[in-house]
Amino acid sequence: MDIYSQNILDHYKNPRNFGKISKPSASQYEANLTCGDIFDIDLKIEKGKIIDMKFRGEGCAISMASASILSEYLIGKNINNIQQMKDKDMLGLLGIAVSERRKNCALLGFSGAKKALLNYFNK
Ligand code: FES
Repeated sequence: MDIYSQNILDHYKNPRNFGKISKPSASQYEANLTCGDIFDIDLKIEKGKIIDMKFRGEGCAISMASASILSEYLIGKNINNIQQMKDKDMLGLLGIAVSERRKNCALLGFSGAKKALLNYFNK
């Protein structure tokens, strides 16, 4: 197993930032309709930066690892920059090739986080 696959496995087994923020700035429930896996995403935003992200729910190895990696990436980032992030940027964070069939898995947390951010902007 290469180092990138090991990293995915580590994030799956020990997801970072798994849980709930008590008073989030924005939240989003996100489901993968093809498999039924779900995440709840919470963001805490202060002074234009994401200062915390937590996620919880049920997902496969790729979705759990992706949300975990995303949470580490987002914390400390400017929300205007995050708003510009595209699916390919999220897939790039994983460091592994994801098959077309598993892209929805890899993007589940990202999709939720983007929608949570949109909720925040629309408040
Ligand atoms: Fe459900 Fe991957 S199989 S998110």
